[in-house]
Amino acid sequence: MTPVRPRSRILGTGHFLPPTVRTNGDIERLVDTSDAWITERTGIRERRIAPEGLVTSDMATHAARGALEMAGLTAADLDMIIVGTVTPDMQMPATAVFVQQKLGAPHCPAFDLSAACAGFLFGLSIADQFVRSGQMRHVLVVGVELLSRVIDWTDRTTCVLFGDGAGAAVVGPVAPDAPADGGRGILSTCICTDGSLAQALWIRGGGSVHPATHATVDQKLHFVQMKGQDIFKAAVRNLSASSRTALERAGLVAADLDWVCAHQANKRIVDQVVTRLEVPIEKVLMNIERVGNTSSASIPILLDQKMRDGTVRAGHTVLMCALGAGVSWGGAVVRV
Ligand code: ACO
Repeated sequence: MTPVRPRSRILGTGHFLPPTVRTNGDIERLVDTSDAWITERTGIRERRIAPEGLVTSDMATHAARGALEMAGLTAADLDMIIVGTVTPDMQMPATAVFVQQKLGAPHCPAFDLSAACAGFLFGLSIADQFVRSGQMRHVLVVGVELLSRVIDWTDRTTCVLFGDGAGAAVVGPVAPDAPADGGRGILSTCICTDGSLAQALWIRGGGSVHPATHATVDQKLHFVQMKGQDIFKAAVRNLSASSRTALERAGLVAADLDWVCAHQANKRIVDQVVTRLEVPIEKVLMNIERVGNTSSASIPILLDQKMRDGTVRAGHTVLMCALGAGVSWGGAVVRV
């Protein structure tokens, strides 16, 4: 008899958005841009900005508490903490360490991973492997970014895009033949990187190539720099491909999906991907208008918002896909 493969499931989600709103109108006062240009080219009208004193691990901890509460668990139940971020509290230790400390979680592996906007899906994929193998029971996966602190607010090609926020999910086991679960679970994941595009989106300063000096600050090497069109094309191509791979691995086709929860980078990217997949626009979850691009936090924020407002319900099948710096990308099909 073929053994039934154990499956993992998202047991709970949570998110945190700082209260301060920065509108396109506010950005018009900083750089030569317009609300009309930003809205038409990106779909973004406003984003959230973290106040001074609030740090990445604070936002991650808020989101994690929400996910634990929805899962009916406490921090004491966690066996692993993964934080996807490119805006950590500091170079070392990992932001996940501070999340562990703030949650009061027990000794367990707690580490960051750097896959930019794909960070949450990389984390979800790792969590899925550990839970399915039986090595870990409950894994916290957080996507969190405080990009407003690494954005050059005089560079109109980047400053209009990003926002701050955190999203989290607790991944845990599903009994393979439990009827109550109704087939819920992480049905597939896929992750990938194309290092030939490393130079298309980066923060060059602060590492071994350009250790921090007065000169690196003057040269603005500690800010995000991006070749927007290269990223745009890579996103449309690879998000379509990874979505198809994730569907294939799940044994499903696009028509089986209830929702697409794609990384909120640019409304035009999402539109082009779902057109290629032939998914009707009514099945596409969006919040970019109000939140902007929150990088690794974008998928778990959107998923949590839509689960809490009842749009996404237990048993719905959701396709997730994201691409970011690297370029790294991923896809996942989850029956929530
Ligand atoms: N306001 C007004 N004009 C602008 C702005 C701005 N903020 N930014 C650029 N422009 C101008 C350019 O200078 C150019 O002017 P020109 O024609 O006189 O030379 C014109 O607008 C068109 O510029 P493009 O770069 O061709 O604009 P495009 O339509 O490609 O949109 C954008 C730029 C929004 C950055 C787009 O390329 C994009 O979204 N790329 C994906 C990048 C992304 O999402 N990165 C986030 C991280 S990775 C991820 O999440 C997938």
